[in-house]
Formats: sequence, structure tokens, C-alpha cells
Amino acid sequence: MSILVTGGAGFIGSNFVLDWLAQSDEIVVNLDKLTYAGNLENLASLQGDARHVFVKGDIGDYDLLLSLLEKHQVRAVINFAAESHVDRSIHGPEDFIQTNILGSFRLLEAVRQYWNNLGQLAQQEFRLLHVSTDEVYGSLAQTDSPFAESNQYQPNSPYSASKAASDHLVRAYHHTYGLPVLTTNCSNNYGPYHFPEKLIPLCIQNALSGKPLPIYGDGQQIRDWLYVKDHCSAIRRVLADGQVGEVYNVGGWNEKANLDVVNTLCSILDELQARSDGKSYAEQITYVTDRPGHDRRYAIDASRLERELGWKPAETFETGIKKTVQWYLDNQAWVGNVLSGDYQSWLDKNYAGRSA
Ligand code: NAD
Ligand code: TYD
Repeated sequence: MSILVTGGAGFIGSNFVLDWLAQSDEIVVNLDKLTYAGNLENLASLQGDARHVFVKGDIGDYDLLLSLLEKHQVRAVINFAAESHVDRSIHGPEDFIQTNILGSFRLLEAVRQYWNNLGQLAQQEFRLLHVSTDEVYGSLAQTDSPFAESNQYQPNSPYSASKAASDHLVRAYHHTYGLPVLTTNCSNNYGPYHFPEKLIPLCIQNALSGKPLPIYGDGQQIRDWLYVKDHCSAIRRVLADGQVGEVYNVGGWNEKANLDVVNTLCSILDELQARSDGKSYAEQITYVTDRPGHDRRYAIDASRLERELGWKPAETFETGIKKTVQWYLDNQAWVGNVLSGDYQSWLDKNYAGRSA
């Protein structure tokens, strides 16, 4: 038996694969298209490890998926594969529709075909866990309660709309075909192997390179932050004991305004690797034009997961962010390798039109 992880060369997927194999000898088949966000270097420690089977391919490739499911007698699929960056979805939504909607649909079709042919016991034990986001719920006002699983879907960006569409398909495959699915909706992750286009790794890297730390709008937008290893443990928990057909919100109980997050990064860097001129990295903070349609606040009520499955995050924001900054300081070679020509052209596209 084995599990199939899709998108396992990306930020969360690679953390999940590494954590899984640190705790279990069950084979992980890792299907990843290796887009700009996929990086096999994240999995370098698994080189030569027979428990990790990497396959370069697209979740939209029905035949490939079906053959992998059959060949490896997969007992569970964890779907991380997606286009994941809101700003990229604003500049070019097409890939988001292709992978997040059509790709998820083909994945569901292949899984349905495979699952239909399993014996009764294997059918009962099979799981498809779909990894989604809190962004599907839309934006909260300051005084609103955090998102519960029962909140209405109100996605505002092409990214969140495409994720919402995939969540609906997953739900429908359970209700219509009885496919044993689970869905998790998680808040903003941070930690090792985070691609430096997202706020936290971008600001760490820009700070160290003496570049501006770009704050969209007034920087008072609020996100809930979860250390990536805590997200991985939540997924393992839901996979093991989650109720089929149900949705679990995953969050860190860490609501922070973007400006506060960046100021925290600056003070940790001031402590760990002070600027040569003795000034604070906070001097590099620069306000830039806001993201169109920018969601003001996300907050997650993760109490269901705690109440029903006993999961709680192990890290506070303070402990997790310190580990993260230290990881980036210790892994500058990894960062150097992802700052390719492709990454540079993304920075030009996203920040050129934003006046300071
Ligand atoms: P990521 O962009 O770092 O990684 C995505 C991975 O999927 C990459 O390795 C990429 O090569 C692969 N991929 C993309 N299109 C593919 C396709 N068509 N077929 C196969 N592989 C493909 O994303 P991430 O931050 O690791 O997010 C993983 C999942 O978690 C996504 O579904 C995302 O929506 C969800 N999520 C992310 C966050 C977050 O804060 N990063 C929060 C909540 C939920
Ligand atoms: P991001 O890391 O892109 O995640 P998401 O959009 O999925 O929440 O952005 C986190 C927050 O930081 C979001 O409110 C947008 C903001 N942000 C900036 O202010 N400046 C930046 O350069 C980036 C990339 C994001």
C-alpha cells in the first residue's frame, strides 16, 4: 500500500512528504508537474530512498493518474497540487482555471474510476484528502467571527474562486458517487521551503539583500498564520480519523496585520544578523500600491479540529517565525537556487507598476 501526494515538490507538499517519511515507512508516490513553484531540491534528503517515488506529471493527466493509482495500490490521495499565488492569479488566471479546476476534476475522475474497482474493504478504507484554503470564505470585517466550516463561500480572487470550484467538485463527488473525501481549509502557512514570492520569505530575502520590503496599501490587512509543520500534522490527523465527506478548518489562532508581521521579521533579523550600518531592517519598509480586490481580513476558527480530532498547533507565531527566519539564514544556498531568471521576471511584472 502507498499514498499518492500531488504537488509534493511545492512548499507545503514537500514539508508533508518529508514529515510523513520521518514517521512512517509507507511509500509516498509524489506526482508534481514541477512548475516554477515545484523544487526537487526540497526533497534532496530523500535521494536514493525507495520509499519516495517521484513522478513528473500533471494532475490533469487522467491516464497517468489511473496507472499510478493501480500500480502502487494507493490507499489515500492527498491533493496539494495547485497554482497558489493570489498576485499571479490576478496577472494571469488561466493556469489557475486549468490546474485548480480542470486538473482537480480529472484527478477526481481518475480516483473515482480506481475506487469503483476496489474491493469492498479497500473502498471503505480509501480516502481522498483535498487541501484547500481559508480564502474561499472571502473577507471578514474587523468585528466578524472567524471563519467556521459552515461559512458561506465568497471567493474574491481568481485564485480563491478556482480553489472554491475545486472544493465544490470534491463535495459533489462525495454526495453523488459516494467517494470518501475529506477537505481541509487552512490559513496562511509559513516555514521552510516557502517560495520567496509570498510575503514572509520575500521580505526576509529582500531585507538581507538591502531591497525594499513592499507593503501593499496600508499594511493593516490581517491574516491568520500557521507554521507549515502544524499544517502537515493537521492533515495527517484528518486523514487518519476525519469523518468522510466533512470539512475541517485549520488555523494557528495567530491573527496578525501584515505590517506587524514584517516588523517582527525585521526585529528578529536585527537580532540574528544585524545590518552592517547598525540601522534596523525596518528602514527598508516601503508602502506600494495595493493588490486589486485585496481581502481585508482572514481568521480561522479551528475549534472543530481540536474538539473532534484533538489537533492543536504546536508552534506559536513567535516560536514559528523565529525558526523560519533562522531556516532562511541557514539555507541561503537554497534561496540562491530558486532566484532564477523566471523569478526575476515575476518580480519585474508584479512590482514595476506599484509606485512607492
Ligand atoms: P506551491 O505553489 O508552493 O506548490 C504547488 C505545487 O503544485 C508545486 O510543486 C507545483 O509544481 C505543483 N503543481 C502545480 N500545478 C500542477 C499540476 N497541474 N499538476 C501537478 N502538480 C502541479 O503551493 P503550496 O503553498 O505548497 O500550497 C499547496 C496547497 O495548499 C495548494 O492547494 C494551496 O491552495 C493550499 N494552501 C496553501 C496555503 C499557503 O499558505 N501556502 C494555505 C492554505 C492552503
Ligand atoms: P501572500 O503571502 O501573497 O499570501 P495571501 O495573498 O495568500 O494571503 O500575502 C500575504 C499578505 O501580504 C497579503 O495580505 C498580501 C500582502 N503582501 C504585501 O503586502 N506585500 C507583498 O509583496 C506580498 C507578496 C504580499
